[in-house]
Amino acid sequence: MKVLVVGGSGFLGAELVRQAAAAGWVTAATYCSSRPAAGPGVSWHRLDLREPERIEEVVAAAAPRAVVDVTSGDADWAVTADGSARVAAAAARHGCRLVHVSSDAVFSGSRVHYDETCLPDPVTPYGAAKAAAETAVRILAPDAAVVRAYLADRRARPVGP
Ligand SMILES: NC(=O)c1ccc[n+]([C@@H]2O[C@H](COP(=O)([O-])OP(=O)(O)OC[C@H]3O[C@@H](n4cnc5c(N)ncnc54)[C@H](OP(=O)(O)O)[C@@H]3O)[C@@H](O)[C@H]2O)c1
Repeated sequence: MKVLVVGGSGFLGAELVRQAAAAGWVTAATYCSSRPAAGPGVSWHRLDLREPERIEEVVAAAAPRAVVDVTSGDADWAVTADGSARVAAAAARHGCRLVHVSSDAVFSGSRVHYDETCLPDPVTPYGAAKAAAETAVRILAPDAAVVRAYLADRRARPVGP
């Protein structure tokens, strides 16, 4: 298995890179501003999704079977919406299976329960950009898995009653 983790230098991406390499997968990953230390079994590519042609070069060079997009540009539309659309288009062009990591921020939170049939109703610029990315991914890479993550707090929480 050959996987490309787009956003491998991030919080979630770093763990995916660690687990993919530990599982023996041929692992390529990208960073934008903070290059991780070189580790065994991982090839790193610099990628800024605001450079339209660059994702194509990285996917062509890595030649992965699967692409996992765990980038986050927060409310920066050029990264979070346009950038993830570019990842989806490149993955589709190269015949890669795509996993696109989205967010519960696509929802307003006005309901108590949400499931996959609920339509996005974002109330923040970040949520709107993530919702736009989801729409682009569904159209450009219909076989993609869209995962809506919710991580309430990056800090380790004490375990207790
Ligand atoms: N963390 C949460 O609480 C949470 C909750 C719900 C959903 N999510 C989703 O989970 C995914 C991962 O989140 P995270 O917390 O791991 O994010 P993160 O730690 O902020 O990492 C973001 C990643 O995106 C890269 N990136 C930023 N700007 C970029 C650009 N212009 N071009 C290319 N890459 C760029 C960063 O690279 P550099 O660091 O090298 O610049 C980094 O690898 C995101 O899709 C996010 O929306 C996260």
